Amino acid sequence: MEAVSNVLKSPWLTQGPKVPEFEDHLCEFLRVKHAVACSSGTAALQLAYASLGVNSDSIGVVPSVTFAATANAFRYLDAKVMLCDVNEDDGIINLASLEEQLISARKNHNFNIGVICPVSLAGKSAPLKEIYELAKIYDFHVIEDASHSPGAYLGDNDGHRTYSCSSEWTDASTVSFHPVKHICCGEGGAILTNSPDLARKAERLRSHGITRDTSQSKDRPWYYEQVELGWNFRITDIQAALGIEQLKRLGSSIQKRHSIAQKYDIAFAEPKFRSKIDCPLILDGHAWHLYVIRFRDSTLRDQAYHYLKARGIITQVHYIPLYRHPYHAGNYLADDFPGAEAYFSSCLSIPMSPSLLPAEQEEVINALGDFLS
Ligand SMILES: Cc1ncc(COP(=O)(O)O)c(C=O)c1O
Repeated sequence: MEAVSNVLKSPWLTQGPKVPEFEDHLCEFLRVKHAVACSSGTAALQLAYASLGVNSDSIGVVPSVTFAATANAFRYLDAKVMLCDVNEDDGIINLASLEEQLISARKNHNFNIGVICPVSLAGKSAPLKEIYELAKIYDFHVIEDASHSPGAYLGDNDGHRTYSCSSEWTDASTVSFHPVKHICCGEGGAILTNSPDLARKAERLRSHGITRDTSQSKDRPWYYEQVELGWNFRITDIQAALGIEQLKRLGSSIQKRHSIAQKYDIAFAEPKFRSKIDCPLILDGHAWHLYVIRFRDSTLRDQAYHYLKARGIITQVHYIPLYRHPYHAGNYLADDFPGAEAYFSSCLSIPMSPSLLPAEQEEVINALGDFLS
């Protein structure tokens, strides 16, 4: 509150010092060289794709289980979208299906730029190194949609950690600062990259394609030029001030989420749960944006949703696969996505938030136990 009210009392509500300060903090916390904060996670995706040069001659490959924005941001640039199947157990892009789509794209389409956008769903990092290796073979770029996964990592057998958002194996990652996300600015997002060129381009596109960085502006500080067509995707200083405070709590909030996940995991090891639901693996580097259980008998999923709602417990399905939405439907057959169908039909996100109280979590466990008994 104090950080926000200080901004409100300052001369800068937008385009002031808090935005670059927030960007510096993002770089430090997320282990990446450049951050460009903007108005939403969707804007961050659009800016990242556009900064790679995506246009109507381009192809974007995305997992079918994700929020609409991952694909929509390609459509705003008029690019073609190709959907991949996902793993049945975690909803993350399936590497075999991804390779099939990359082969098909190279064989059947002429395009200038291809971009894969894996989603680190629910807080579990997608296998970014493996995706990068496929991208290299088929000459694609990689932008990670890390809206769910700031702070997540995947460890390998040598003890190396690949951090989501770090851009180690991607051209860039994007995050969202929507209130349900790990870092909340009300609305907001950011592009994270190790490429200075991509960062500079995203910065320019964020503000109409305008630059002040010209030879003329040395003697004339008021001088600026629009060098290309961009948008107003700026974030305000008020939001950035909120984000700086939120970032300070990122580590402890992931720790709380981890403890909540562990408590669910212990409770759900009991036979009455184990025989009917599958739980996510407790991984060290999971950022636990969501805790998603899967019903072995998928007809129970909707019944559980209604039962829990009647007990005052709000759950959600993340996500209806993109090919099931009327906007995309004509182009795909659900039969081509067996992993997504299995994941979607059985998944339910149960309460997971650092503010979830122990008694509230107990109530979720008890209610689900009563339902399954
Ligand atoms: C996976 C994913 N990508 C992109 C977005 C878009 O973020 P925003 O709502 O900040 O535009 C979201 C937001 O829910 C998301 O969950």
